[in-house]
Amino acid sequence: MKKRVTKAIFPVAGLGTRFLPATKSIPKEIMTLVDRPLIQYAIDEARAAGIREFIFVTSRGKSALEDYFDNAPELEAALRKKGKTELLEELKKTNMDSGAIAYVRQNKALGLGHAVWCGRRLLGNEPFAVILPDDVIAAETPCLKQMVEAHAETGGNMVAAMEVPDDKISSYGVLDIKEDMGSVVSVKGMVEKPEAKKAPSNLAVIGRYILTPQIMNNLNKKKTGAGGEIQLTDAIAQEIEESDNVFGFRFRGQRFDCGSKAGFLQATVAFGLAREELRDEFQSYLSGMEALRNAAE
Ligand code: G1P
Repeated sequence: MKKRVTKAIFPVAGLGTRFLPATKSIPKEIMTLVDRPLIQYAIDEARAAGIREFIFVTSRGKSALEDYFDNAPELEAALRKKGKTELLEELKKTNMDSGAIAYVRQNKALGLGHAVWCGRRLLGNEPFAVILPDDVIAAETPCLKQMVEAHAETGGNMVAAMEVPDDKISSYGVLDIKEDMGSVVSVKGMVEKPEAKKAPSNLAVIGRYILTPQIMNNLNKKKTGAGGEIQLTDAIAQEIEESDNVFGFRFRGQRFDCGSKAGFLQATVAFGLAREELRDEFQSYLSGMEALRNAAE
């Protein structure tokens, strides 16, 4: 029987330089889309996929992230006293059971592969997920859940994937497709951040992974790759050579690149419009802007 995926690593050690000065004092994962921090979207997606243990790879200056998942008895008591039951429920969703969440420190920024490797002692001999909270995915069935279901068929290593335009491809890990079966593709090569003209395809890796424990052995070698960093992409690519068990998964859903300002703003608009209590007012504001722009053109 295949082992279930119950553990996930969240690499959250990045400096968030693209969002300075905000990220001088708040971790970028605490930045909010409407009223929920990015990390909450990632956690909710993980929970929906059956994840029970959450491993955060953090760094200096991320204590706000740890506090976020703690109980807040005073705040809860105040809301209870005021009869704000809905807010209280919302707040309770942020609480994590004791022992369900673990923090490990990445003490040097050596790359995504290294960040994932920092979590190695907290994993057993079973497949695990990696979620990059910068990639927010709106989907009817949460992306990681779609992947867990597909992974039950394929086993091996699976990365979320989507087609991106030529001028963006050099920002991603890119798949060299062996066989395209529609939502699942088998992979014969992977390159991190290739030049557009050297990219093997337009199918890019998005920040959701289900990986075999073997990946940690590959990362043990601490080989540097693109940008002088230890790349997760390279450790997965090594599995193609050794076990030929790497798959890409075209998920159903809308992905927002919340690691970039433009992507973050787009997500804010989309998630704002998705909220019933905001929709009418926000929609009419946006239509007003469009009318203004049309008039100006
Ligand atoms: C990371 C990965 C890359 C992947 C991307 C998805 O890159 O290294 O393979 O395509 O996430 O968002 P980063 O965005 O951290 O540069």
